[in-house]
Amino acid sequence: MPIAFSVHNYAEEQREYCKKIKKIYEDLFKVQSPVAYVKTYGCQQNVSDSEKYKGMLSEMGFNISENCENANVILFNTCAIRENAENKVFGNIGRIKFLKKKNPNMIVILCGCMTQQQSICEKLKSTYSFIDIVFGTHEAHKFPEIIYNFLNSRELKSPKKYVFLNQDSIFEGAPLKRSSKIKAFVSVMSGCNNFCSYCIVPYVRGRERSREPENIVRECKSLIDSGYKDITLLGQNVNSYGKNLDHNINFPGLLKKLDSFEGEYKLRFMTSHPKDATHELFDTIAKSQHISHHIHLPVQCGSNKVLEKMNRKYTKESYLDIINYARKKIPDVSFTSDIIVGFPGEAYEDFLETVDLIKKVRFSSLFTFIFSPRLGTPAYDLKDEISKEEKTKWLLKLLKVQEKISEEIRSEMVGQKERVLAETYCEDQKYLMCRTDGSIIVKVPSERNFSGEFLDAQIIDHSRESLLGKLI
Ligand code: 5AD
Ligand code: SF4
Repeated sequence: MPIAFSVHNYAEEQREYCKKIKKIYEDLFKVQSPVAYVKTYGCQQNVSDSEKYKGMLSEMGFNISENCENANVILFNTCAIRENAENKVFGNIGRIKFLKKKNPNMIVILCGCMTQQQSICEKLKSTYSFIDIVFGTHEAHKFPEIIYNFLNSRELKSPKKYVFLNQDSIFEGAPLKRSSKIKAFVSVMSGCNNFCSYCIVPYVRGRERSREPENIVRECKSLIDSGYKDITLLGQNVNSYGKNLDHNINFPGLLKKLDSFEGEYKLRFMTSHPKDATHELFDTIAKSQHISHHIHLPVQCGSNKVLEKMNRKYTKESYLDIINYARKKIPDVSFTSDIIVGFPGEAYEDFLETVDLIKKVRFSSLFTFIFSPRLGTPAYDLKDEISKEEKTKWLLKLLKVQEKISEEIRSEMVGQKERVLAETYCEDQKYLMCRTDGSIIVKVPSERNFSGEFLDAQIIDHSRESLLGKLI
């Protein structure tokens, strides 16, 4: 029986608050063009959420600036995935304190995954009392209302708003201020039900909930019609798309719908959980016109003992089976992955199994992390005997092995023809920054700016991080 989540429609609920806020700035504060600064930490989901905050701020009459110095509103959209992500946020908000002193009318707002944790909110209240508004991930749809209520309560002695609700919902119809005219993120679902033992995400983002397919189809179609060429579908585990919906639709079914539009465009998705990456998914990609042959499939570790403690629900062998199946169906498929080094109880022999796995799979690149204990997750309480120094040595060893593999993959591409998307143009040095289907950057000298176009390029050389190509 699917669980029903409430759907908040921005147009119906929040537009009036935007108009009122605009009026307050114009009539009461005598500010005709207020400025907002938005700083985003963490994953693509947060980048996508920030595009919504920027869109809503624009509707409230704010100009979005890259500079926080003269901003009327400063918003930090935070990340809680690892301790260093949180420390970055604390460091940066500390620096805002002096701006707030200079301009007491400035509104400082914190939102995102960090603020969904009680312990962090306590710390914010006690140590960072100059922050005006704090709200969690489930309140995004009420953003204009939160600002309006704050502005209205400003005259009161303690106007601080700590909004801390835990109601999972779906947010539709937010105005989006996208950061690119070529590449777009489209959120297809939120939340996660997997509870990997190290991960804070299910606690701060709530349970899995999917958007209605027709809303996603409409959004993607309109992006393609307006010239977008590269769409990344976002979700913590896109492979479980559809599970809470009444319709009989799963992720491959959604992909088929989105693959059916006219014209040249690329469809990507992230993130996929290996336990839910089905044969149907790879069969769909193999038959599709537009779906990228690059798949991000986080394996986290190569040791079955550690994978079990991580609650990942697959083994090294079953992961390799998936890779082999995909390679049989899609011969030019490329994989990237996430690895956590130094999970509690991981022995050097376990780590060596990870090294062995990455040699077997030959990922084109890896995102590597040292385990970071997150309060409230099961792994937080596990005994961890390996020192940070030792874990760093393991990580460096892993990176060295991966660097060699990535370099080999790039060198094997020399001489090949690649269909690339020109993303940006460097006017001074006359070259295009392009991306292959496998998400590898290719620098292509060109007298003309072809940004936003697909081009054929011959790969002529490779460097540490990218490829060099020439237009055909
Ligand atoms: N410590 C280290 N890395 C983590 N990740 C998630 N939680 C933690 C943690 N507590 C990594 C995983 C995940 C990626 C987004 O972040 O590899 O796939
Ligand atoms: Fe975290 Fe695991 Fe969910 Fe990914 S699948 S968000 S690692 S709990």
